[in-house]
Amino acid sequence: MIFYPDRKIFKNSRIKNMCEYRNLVEDFKEDYEGTWAKYARIKLDWIRPFTKTLDESNAPFYKWFIGGKLNASVQCIDRHLKDKKNKTAIIWEADDGSRKFVTYLELHKEVNRFANLLKSLGVKKGDRVVIYMPMILEAAYAMLACARIGAIHSVVFGGFSADALKDRILDAQAKVVITADGAFRKGKAYMLKPVVDEAIKDVECVEKVVVVERNGEDINWTNRDVSYEELIKLQSSKCDPEIMDSEDPLFLLYTSGSTGKPKGVQHSTAGYMLWAQMTMENVFDLRDNDTFWCTADIGWITGHTYIIYGPLAAGATTLMFEGVFTYPDAGRAWRMVEEYQVNQFYTAPTAIRLLHKLGADEPKKYDLASLRVLGTVGEPIDPEAWMWYYEEVGQGKCPIVDTWWQTETGGHMITPIASATPIKPASATFPLPGIFAEIIDEEGNKVKPNEKGLLCITKPWPSMIRTIWNDPQRFVNSYFSTAKKDGKAVYFSGDGAIYDEDGYIFITGRVDDVINVSGHRLGTAEIEAVIKKVDLVAENAVVGKPDEIKGESIFAYIVLKGEDNLATEVEVLQKINEAISKEIGNIAKVDSIAIVPALPKTRSGKIMRRILRSIAKGEEITQDISTLEDPSIVEKIQNIVKG
Ligand code: WT7
Repeated sequence: MIFYPDRKIFKNSRIKNMCEYRNLVEDFKEDYEGTWAKYARIKLDWIRPFTKTLDESNAPFYKWFIGGKLNASVQCIDRHLKDKKNKTAIIWEADDGSRKFVTYLELHKEVNRFANLLKSLGVKKGDRVVIYMPMILEAAYAMLACARIGAIHSVVFGGFSADALKDRILDAQAKVVITADGAFRKGKAYMLKPVVDEAIKDVECVEKVVVVERNGEDINWTNRDVSYEELIKLQSSKCDPEIMDSEDPLFLLYTSGSTGKPKGVQHSTAGYMLWAQMTMENVFDLRDNDTFWCTADIGWITGHTYIIYGPLAAGATTLMFEGVFTYPDAGRAWRMVEEYQVNQFYTAPTAIRLLHKLGADEPKKYDLASLRVLGTVGEPIDPEAWMWYYEEVGQGKCPIVDTWWQTETGGHMITPIASATPIKPASATFPLPGIFAEIIDEEGNKVKPNEKGLLCITKPWPSMIRTIWNDPQRFVNSYFSTAKKDGKAVYFSGDGAIYDEDGYIFITGRVDDVINVSGHRLGTAEIEAVIKKVDLVAENAVVGKPDEIKGESIFAYIVLKGEDNLATEVEVLQKINEAISKEIGNIAKVDSIAIVPALPKTRSGKIMRRILRSIAKGEEITQDISTLEDPSIVEKIQNIVKG
């Protein structure tokens, strides 16, 4: 089944059809650097122009737009003041439904004040600032204020625990942490500041903690803390933007890998901003008076690129939401679409499945005629959820852009272009012009149609990850050591994919030890390391198990200490989750476990995770198990899991 964009709706769009799409692809093929340079000149406001487009001399540490000077906050705010100063930049809706509208002029003032506040605390260009905030306007101001003075922000999702926050603060050696007392969820106050207190108890690098008041609950004030409300009053609303190099880091964002601790993905200023803006404009068919709603949290890359940097660079109106879809009822999202006349709605498949389940008929109760484009991100979407989204939410007239990308790619990579691409449900369709994505084997041979291969990007692109903070070797190992093409290491995403006879790309999911729970990326190694520390546990292995709403849920195989250990699954699960909740956060909680006598291991002691994944999925075991130390263990585990 193929769904075509309505020609009438998209007749004046930037990219009107596949012919125009192919021409753009050709432009990049014919003159890769020249075409990127052309867009960088048109799209970015340069303080000083760049002199060279791409420096490959130290591959894979690629550099883009060499010698250029700019500032990301100017790209997002100042340059719009000429003709959009009274346009709403951000609409914010609180958990309780109250709202604020912030114009570009007001945004300019708030960001400048916050920038001066940070300066008054001694924050300088290149310093790291950790932002541990709820979805409130000050979080947006904080990010842009860092960008204005050249400080490198590292936003940590509010669902992470004190230990996880501490790891990230230490790794980045943050000088300042910005947080709030807490916020509201489903009408109730929750706290963040105590988590920061706990995280930085013995941490010396943090000089100041800026505390924004949101829920007014009592908190402890230490001598490192400063009140945002008190200091902001003293600040001038004029702060000259720091002149940043194209390659100066704009931010770090920690994400999980298949091994070890989370890695600090480092993004650049110019390349990241260029692609944030271009994808925003092209993929979503962004127009002058559009209101764009991306439902992510700013703690994830989706929130960075498509709530803050992309929409603001494009001069759009972006909607920022503190609450949750299910409160006060399952119509919350649709009511907001109606009220704010949202034109693009961008969310995760897990949210679509939840909304479908909770209120399949809810969309009918609202006027959703303003919607023109729908989007999804974060995980594969199943055809059932897709059809409901298309029929009920989009009323059969809104293209769904299934956008494949990653924290490391900065912006969209493989996705339909709303105005041009004929869509097959559950396919991310084709790479964007400028992106050279290929499905290959380890030697760089293109796989045949419908055959699974490694999803690789074979040319550098401007918004790509620059390095892993503090660990350049890990950057090379993680992304540039799996696949080669023409003898050159290429970027490997960690995902598997296929393409069909028409060239449509379908992402099949991670091929490494990373699981995707509700669109959140979690490393099994990280979770296993926490479980291993639980007293009762001798050995464990964690895998993803298909889940109707979350996509994947976390399933752990546990070998207990002592032959005659009588601990029950319920007890063990509880102990494990207490540990996870403390060391990582509730988002990584294990959903179910199986207590097994042993794990399937090869004679050299390597755990055969593929077998464990198959068992959790209830699949038949097709792989050869004769190389196992004890092949009979497979059947024993299967029987335990089947119950
Ligand atoms: C991983 C990246 C990109 C922002 C959200 C997640 C999976 C992402 C899709 C999609 C199928 C997808 C991949 C990818 N993923 N988008 N449209 N279809 N899978 O960012 O935490 O960096 O995770 O999410 O497995 O590698 P992230």
